[in-house]
Amino acid sequence: MAISEELIQQIKEENDIVDVISESVRLKKAGRNYTGLCPFHNEKTPSFSVSSDKQIYKCFGCGEAGNVITFVMKNKNLNFVEALEYLANRVNIEFAQTYEDKQNKNKKDLLYKLNVDVAKFFFNNLLNNKKANEYFSGRGITQGTIKKFGLGYSLDNWRGLLTYLKRKGYKEEQILENGLIIKSEKGNYYDRFRNRVMFPVFDYKGKVIGFGGRVLDDSKPKYLNSPDGPLFIKGTHLYGLNFVIKNNSFNRTFIIVEGYMDCIALHQYGITNAVASLGTALTASQAKLLKRYADRVIISYDADLAGQMATLRGLDILRKTGLEVRVLTVPKGKDPDEFIRSNGVDAFNKLIDEALPLIDYRLRKAKEGIDFNQSSMLIKYAKRVTEILAELNPIEKDVYVKKISEDTGIREQAVYDLLGRELTKNFSENRDMNNVEVIGHKLYIEPAYMKAERALLKIMSTIDEYYESIVNNIESSGFI
Ligand code: UTP
Ligand code: MN
Repeated sequence: MAISEELIQQIKEENDIVDVISESVRLKKAGRNYTGLCPFHNEKTPSFSVSSDKQIYKCFGCGEAGNVITFVMKNKNLNFVEALEYLANRVNIEFAQTYEDKQNKNKKDLLYKLNVDVAKFFFNNLLNNKKANEYFSGRGITQGTIKKFGLGYSLDNWRGLLTYLKRKGYKEEQILENGLIIKSEKGNYYDRFRNRVMFPVFDYKGKVIGFGGRVLDDSKPKYLNSPDGPLFIKGTHLYGLNFVIKNNSFNRTFIIVEGYMDCIALHQYGITNAVASLGTALTASQAKLLKRYADRVIISYDADLAGQMATLRGLDILRKTGLEVRVLTVPKGKDPDEFIRSNGVDAFNKLIDEALPLIDYRLRKAKEGIDFNQSSMLIKYAKRVTEILAELNPIEKDVYVKKISEDTGIREQAVYDLLGRELTKNFSENRDMNNVEVIGHKLYIEPAYMKAERALLKIMSTIDEYYESIVNNIESSGFI
């Protein structure tokens, strides 16, 4: 069956080549392009170049070249259709099953079925294991929640799962494809997940695509997750989304948390519109998936520094997807799970009500550690604020300049002045052609007509002959 040219085009357009290649090659910006070490031959100095404008790559060392699809084909050793499917999944484009060849479909169905059997195995292990049960009850998880989320336990045993699945007739290659076993250097297979409480990961349709497993104590690594495979691609799904959709009472508003336990705890307490991004910064693909069901998102990440960084990155991606974004801050460095367990659902709902719109959140962050009585700090603040406001439209800029002025006691015009001065400085420091676009954007913070008027007034007040010529040519009513 032929694949339509439009679908191929759409898949190419939504998978930015720089993003895709960055997942496996460390790229550095060099002028208009990006360079890195070529993944197709061995080299010590980078001769591999990626063009964002043209959406192509080329290696000047070995001659490999192509577009995002050929890159995935070569890099992941896939055929054309498989590469298309991989890229479609990566950005949540529905890749119609008619396009999958029959064999591929059968193979996938089997891998899904395998995962269901594995989830059942883990679930039954949990029923029979006192230690694992105590772990969950110690964290306040009810039997109902265990059932709903299909929680489980992986045995403290090198081949517990492997033996069970082989007895059921599965082959090692299949189990390996789903990432459930690992091949040792000697060529022996053993279970990936051992002695962990298990969280099956569902896609938005409720199919089991992978697993996460947590240790019962504080050994490391705390969580292990399924590796990428035919069913599971990191950063393309959201944990809990299937439950939110099924419940149907989410009002197109979602709460995004970081961890499995945060998501589960919120659901258990009746906050049934929570999903988890599972520890990584949100990706554009996750944002797009969310946009299908949501108009508003409230992001609630850890208050620690890493959490804040993840918040800022995630926010930008969400906003660019067209979602209205708010930021919920859990006090005292707790995560949502800890907070709701010790303070209850009403207290959490209060935090939801108090969540700040994205720009307000950023402005508040910019203000941290700033003493408005020190002019050097004011400049620092202006610089931070400038970056935040640069992305807004003129009306929003106006509103926020007013707000900043009220907050800080600085006159509005002075805020504009500070911004203007800082921007001019930035401009002369960065005469590099690559930056012109960005800076041009920032300079727009002060409307051009205002700049022109102020320039005229300044000239009038300092040079007599210009004063004459200006008052003779411009009416005072021409000034705003
Ligand atoms: P956190 O470290 O915030 O843990 O990781 P948590 O969710 O609060 O875990 P608990 O409460 O101690 O059980 C957030 C998420 O990051 C991923 C997991 O998805 C986790 O839920 N993570 C974390 C990993 O994948 N591996 C790790 O080693 C740690
Ligand atoms: Mn936690």
